[in-house]
Amino acid sequence: MKIRKAVFPVAGLGTRVLPATKAMPKEMLTIVDRPLIQYVVDEAKEAGIEHFVFVTGRNKSVIEDHFDRMYELDATLSARGKTAEQEVLARDQPAAGATSFTRQQAPLGLGHAVWCARDIVGDEPFAVVLPDELVLNRPGCLKQMIEAAEKLGGNSNLIAVEEVPGHLTHNYGICGVGARQGRTFEINGMVEKPKQGTAPSNFSITGRYILQPQIFRILETQERGAGNEIQLTDAMIGLARTQKFYGVEFEGERHDCGSKAGFLRANIAFGMARADLRDGLREEMKRYLEK
Ligand code: G1P
Repeated sequence: MKIRKAVFPVAGLGTRVLPATKAMPKEMLTIVDRPLIQYVVDEAKEAGIEHFVFVTGRNKSVIEDHFDRMYELDATLSARGKTAEQEVLARDQPAAGATSFTRQQAPLGLGHAVWCARDIVGDEPFAVVLPDELVLNRPGCLKQMIEAAEKLGGNSNLIAVEEVPGHLTHNYGICGVGARQGRTFEINGMVEKPKQGTAPSNFSITGRYILQPQIFRILETQERGAGNEIQLTDAMIGLARTQKFYGVEFEGERHDCGSKAGFLRANIAFGMARADLRDGLREEMKRYLEK
């Protein structure tokens, strides 16, 4: 099962981190020195993804600019001999023709956002990557999932999952756990944002999916669910009637960068993972902890 395309739903309003996201897309928030969206595109590239599909909305055009080549900047860096910076920009830029942008015209939910990508994805399995969830690990989360998908073969659907404390299950989609093989298990039920005390397990759906294209047919008529939105989880429940779903417990630290606390923690974690910043950051943090 070759996965060539990844869908990045980037139309969200980012209300949990206002006012930062009033005029700037939440996907452009910076972890250390790179916007969130760059991390997930890099993760997808590492996993072998060849085409990057962004489902955007109003006020998101800066994301498209970010993945374009900036001739003036390039020329200025070149004139000033800043070759290291030029190399970073060149490395981060997707190949010509490897990106597509489409708009979700109204905030109708994650399921609707994914459905907006149907014509660009076409009739092949694809990945969905939510940019506000970063996973610190090499190999990245999506690469681990694609490797698991290759082992499973056939018409499998996979979801990256992580155990969360029981009192937090109502914030997530939650999977029921069936037969297990190592870090992969059969999913025997899903529920989006279950009421306190009703979750089938503590395994939360994180922001990485590998889905079969039949999901689009279900999304087409999917009714609104939790939060009065068209939920991807509800469409996956529909698809699970005819196809297998597997949970993949990935290796790595998950960061919810769409919340203020998670965003701060991600900056520390990704900063500490950088050889050029680690020592200075450690000293600074020590100073603050002793205050
Ligand atoms: C979405 C999904 C949910 C998943 C979560 C992970 O919810 O609907 O199943 O657990 O992402 O971040 P949202 O956070 O958009 O409400």
